[in-house]
Amino acid sequence: MALAQDLVTPAAPGNGIVPEKVRDGIDLEINGEHYRHTGDPQMPLLWYLRDVLRLTGTKYARETGADLVLLNGKAVSAIAQPMVKLAGKSVITVEGLAANDGGLHPVQQAFIDEDAIGCGYCTPGWLIAAVDLLKRKPRPTDDDLDQLPNLCRCGCQTRVRRAIKRVAAGKVGPA
Ligand code: FES
Repeated sequence: MALAQDLVTPAAPGNGIVPEKVRDGIDLEINGEHYRHTGDPQMPLLWYLRDVLRLTGTKYARETGADLVLLNGKAVSAIAQPMVKLAGKSVITVEGLAANDGGLHPVQQAFIDEDAIGCGYCTPGWLIAAVDLLKRKPRPTDDDLDQLPNLCRCGCQTRVRRAIKRVAAGKVGPA
């Protein structure tokens, strides 16, 4: 019996078109919802998020950490993840940080409270990195903050660090 991946669409004789194999879907969870990707298995996760799902919070800027997402709870580059490696995995993007009732994640609130947002391009990556860091190290040191892969071209680093420390200190709401 033929397997699904062995089935091919017959080409019209003599048209020169090489038929593509029928692909198995890649099932994964994004922000708590199930998705099946049936396109190019090498498509980077970033393209799937932005171009297919229209989740445009995650940005194309690997060198600044703006493309970070949580993959099974760990911050990783969405550009560096081909869809084929994501079967059965769980992805959280910046759009998935808030609670179902719309309440902001404590890290999001702290960024607002500390005015840690300039143009906002880098902000999704910082938020994801901060959530990951605070989960691993609830009381991060300056050295821990120095290790974050993110950059802010608007110069918000100092305020971002204050925001992360604010969450670590359990402070909620404006100072
Ligand atoms: S807020 Fe503009 S790059 Fe960081």
